[in-house]
Amino acid sequence: MSFKGMDIISIADLNKDQIEEILTLANKMVPYAKGEKTTKALEGKILANLFFEPSTRTRLSFESAMIRLGGSNIGITDQQNSSVAKGETLADTIRTVECYADAIVLRHPKEGAARLAAKFSDKPVINCGDGPGQHPTQTLVDLFTMKQEQGSMKGKNVVLVGDLKYGRTVHSLVEALSLFGANLTFVAPDILQIPQESIKVLEKAGISTKLETDINNAIADADVLYVTRIQKERFPDQSEYEKVAGSYRIDNATLREAKKNLTIMHPLPRVDEIAPEVDATENAKYFKQTFNAVPVRMAILSLIVGGQI
Ligand code: NCD
Repeated sequence: MSFKGMDIISIADLNKDQIEEILTLANKMVPYAKGEKTTKALEGKILANLFFEPSTRTRLSFESAMIRLGGSNIGITDQQNSSVAKGETLADTIRTVECYADAIVLRHPKEGAARLAAKFSDKPVINCGDGPGQHPTQTLVDLFTMKQEQGSMKGKNVVLVGDLKYGRTVHSLVEALSLFGANLTFVAPDILQIPQESIKVLEKAGISTKLETDINNAIADADVLYVTRIQKERFPDQSEYEKVAGSYRIDNATLREAKKNLTIMHPLPRVDEIAPEVDATENAKYFKQTFNAVPVRMAILSLIVGGQI
């Protein structure tokens, strides 16, 4: 199957075979991502990185991936320094940027922005977060990390903790996990629980789900603990945020009943939801997950833009 020129807007744009193909190629990309081997697979190609919301890992790992493949990057990281500040529409910005690049990576505060951008661009658009909507390439990074640490996800217990309502990484990840047969437990304060749309997708796929408010009720059975930040910037009412801020925190005491080979993940950035003492445990894999962003995004770019290593 060909990925060339394809948009990745939602994780549902990829079927299970395509996800597996990306993850297999990502594995081959690891020595290139580390700089142990070099390639000119995307020499002469340009990636446009448009970030209309803050980003550290997503933007830098895409840029790093492009450079490791022998390509180049251009981009906008600040709306104030682009024509968006003059009132330009997203459609016009996209029609401009596609003249200058072979693929477009977009992060935008509005849900649906990436889908709209793809309509206006003949060049492939990769959604790197549309408000609380989706973040499909983060999901590929997360799946790659889970498989690396746990092998097959069939029958594994994945416990997702935190802001399951606004966390876009969670929305993409649960859809993907439904294809791989994991059991899911959602731990969140009531007002931040997983949206009904996600539950419906899981029910349709015959996936077993549990809702909890207390991590202590879920930790003992967990194979993967996926922790997320409360998305403060998405709360329409900051007093609602104050009610849930700091309402969960994973520390060594939380992990006392956990399985020895529990994998703890976090898309990052973290605020206070994982205590720094956890970083020194064998279970903490979030910085490994951060590295994995490079080989996974190299795989995505080489498939979509075209170019063999
Ligand atoms: C996340 C995001 O932007 O959705 N980070 C990421 O891309 N790795 C998570 C967050 O902001 O909490």
